[in-house]
Amino acid sequence: MRLIFLGPPGAGKGTQSKLLTKRFGARHISTGDILRDHRVAGTDLGRLAEGFMRHGELVPDELILKMIEGELERSPRGFIMDGFPRTVAQAEAFDALMDSRGVPLDAVVLFDVDRDTLVTRLTSRWTNPKTGKSYNAITNPPPGPGMRDADGTELIQREDDKAETVSKRLDVYREQTEPLVAYYLKRGKLVKVDGLAPVEDVTRQIVSLLSPELQAS
Ligand code: AP5
Repeated sequence: MRLIFLGPPGAGKGTQSKLLTKRFGARHISTGDILRDHRVAGTDLGRLAEGFMRHGELVPDELILKMIEGELERSPRGFIMDGFPRTVAQAEAFDALMDSRGVPLDAVVLFDVDRDTLVTRLTSRWTNPKTGKSYNAITNPPPGPGMRDADGTELIQREDDKAETVSKRLDVYREQTEPLVAYYLKRGKLVKVDGLAPVEDVTRQIVSLLSPELQAS
């Protein structure tokens, strides 16, 4: 399985990536999660990425591409790319990388969600820092009392989920990432799901768009 999940911040890419990689045994490659891990570990990459992420801007392509090459090496059973590529330059470089390995992309899944819903979802998202499990104060409240997970872990909000940073991230998506819709449409790779549907329904939509071979894998 070699899939790209494309869509604006808050469209549900991470939620669906986690569910589907668990089901199909592929690797979940979230460039955002990898960068956040680097920040926590205090690596050079983490320090370089910090300012961009805090302001809702994209991290420079060359840093991201170096990271992706390493991730592919660790994905023998395929992958779901969550948050990559995000610019046409990243998509072109990724195509070249896949060509050099002789492995085609199966599909690019576009998540369709309106801006108001995205803002509401992101500003009410809470995450378990230990497991990465994501909740939503409105649509999927955490099980524990207050903002806590079932095991009592205190949930946290991402610093880039503040309203003003969310707005910036959505503008950056429109300007720099949305051109990828035309890019992949032209290459016959794009399929679209209704990201406003309930989580289980979005999963069903994605699975139904996969080839019978992939569904059975
Ligand atoms: P990243 O971490 O990739 O953030 P993002 O793309 O902005 O994606 P999100 O994680 O915010 O949204 P999502 O679509 O995964 O939604 P989720 O499933 O969590 O990137 C962060 C930063 O890192 C970037 O701003 C940039 O600086 C940098 N970066 C990362 N990759 C880069 C790259 N390639 N190039 C350059 N820079 C890069 O869902 C959101 C909420 O909605 C949750 O609360 C969830 O429970 C809820 N929800 C999900 N689905 C549904 C549903 N169907 N119905 C109701 N609620 C739902």
